[in-house]
Order: sequence, then structure tokens, then C-alpha cells
Amino acid sequence: MTQDEMKLAVAKAAIEYITPKLDKESIIGVGTGSTANFFIQQLASIKHLFEGAVASSDDTANRLQALGIPVYELNDVNEMVVYVDGADEFDPQLNLIKGGGAALTREKIVAAVANEFVCIVDDSKQVAVLGGYPLPVEVIPMARSYVARELTKLNAQPVYRQGVITDNGNVIIDVENLDISDAKGLEEKINNIVGVVTNGLFAQRNADLVLMGTASSVQTITLN
Ligand code: A5P
Repeated sequence: MTQDEMKLAVAKAAIEYITPKLDKESIIGVGTGSTANFFIQQLASIKHLFEGAVASSDDTANRLQALGIPVYELNDVNEMVVYVDGADEFDPQLNLIKGGGAALTREKIVAAVANEFVCIVDDSKQVAVLGGYPLPVEVIPMARSYVARELTKLNAQPVYRQGVITDNGNVIIDVENLDISDAKGLEEKINNIVGVVTNGLFAQRNADLVLMGTASSVQTITLN
């Protein structure tokens, strides 16, 4: 299977997994990125089974609307049955690095609201310890240099992602060579730097389930 075929396979597996959980009033959280885009395409085929979706980015909102799936503001939603999204890396504890597509803040907010977080990935995203992929950090523009100096104190290399403005009007710093042996602690520590909106570690709210596409199958990975 090619990487795209794996992404399609996990998108289909996610549809199969969530369908029994849906009713006419269900709201689904939908992630951002190339794997999530396969999921969005598949979601159109079951759009009669749920009420609508909350999008984790403007791009995802546009894609959902183009397929006739109603998009709701998160503030108008009381309950979200499930959030489905990709990741840049996941570890054995189902902690994630996200934000390669710069949508990390809205992704983290939508994931926080959802009853369940289903992460869909191909097997290139599986790692023993997070951090091979640079950690994206969303930063208020005026704090960029200050935050970069503070990140350097973690013995890591901050790299400004040139030319990228998030949906929230902020900038992204990618942090290379971080020691992420304590994902929860580091998530909190970086979020405590003044000027940081949030970082792409999803450890406080990790995935509940990972559907991973391999060359021959889709594996279901949980902590139990
Ligand atoms: C978007 O900001 C990211 O968090 C994506 O979910 C992540 O980068 C995975 O994207 P792909 O599915 O394109 O690899």
C-alpha cells in the first residue's frame, strides 16, 4: 500500500468505528491535514447519520461545507461524541505531536471538548519517544523573539516557520531536538511561557485510540 492508500484505509476504518456511536443529534469534531482530508471525504457518505461537525481549521470547515456537511461553531455545541484527526507522531502512551499544518490550537480545543479522540495515522507516525518531528508552538506575533529565547533554555533549537500565519492570526515556532521524555510536563512547561498560545504536544489530552495503517492492514491501538 502507498502512504495515500494507508490514509484512505484508516479514514474508512474511522468511519466504521464511529458509525455505531452516531445518532441524528451527534456532532463530530473534524481535524486538519492530509489524513483528515481522506476522513472528510468518507464522512460525506454517512452525513445523513449525524447532525453536523465542528472544524479544527478554516480549511476543514470549507471542505466539510463543500460536501454538504453542516459546520457548527464550537460555542454552539454542548457535546461532541468524537474527534477524529491525524498526527505528526504518536508514542506508546498515545501522546501526540501535532501542528505540522499549523492548526494545533483549534485542534487542541476541539479535542478537549470531545468525549473520545480517535487518531488516524499511517505507520510512519509511530515512534518510541516523541521529538523526532519538531514540536510546533503557536505564538502571539509580538512575543516571537522572547518565546524563542525561552525555548532555547530547554536545550532545543527554535525555528521560526517563515510565511505562516495561523487561522488565529499568530505565528509558529518549530522546536527541534527537544527532550520529550516527560510529555505532560513539557506540554505544561512550554504553555507557561508568556506569549505561547499552545504547543503541539497532546499529552494532557492524548488520543483514546489510534487507527494505524500499515502495508497490509489497519491496526487498532489503545492503552488497555
Ligand atoms: C495539523 O495542524 C496537524 O496537526 C495534522 O493533524 C498533522 O500534521 C497530521 O497531518 P497529516 O495527516 O497531513 O500527516
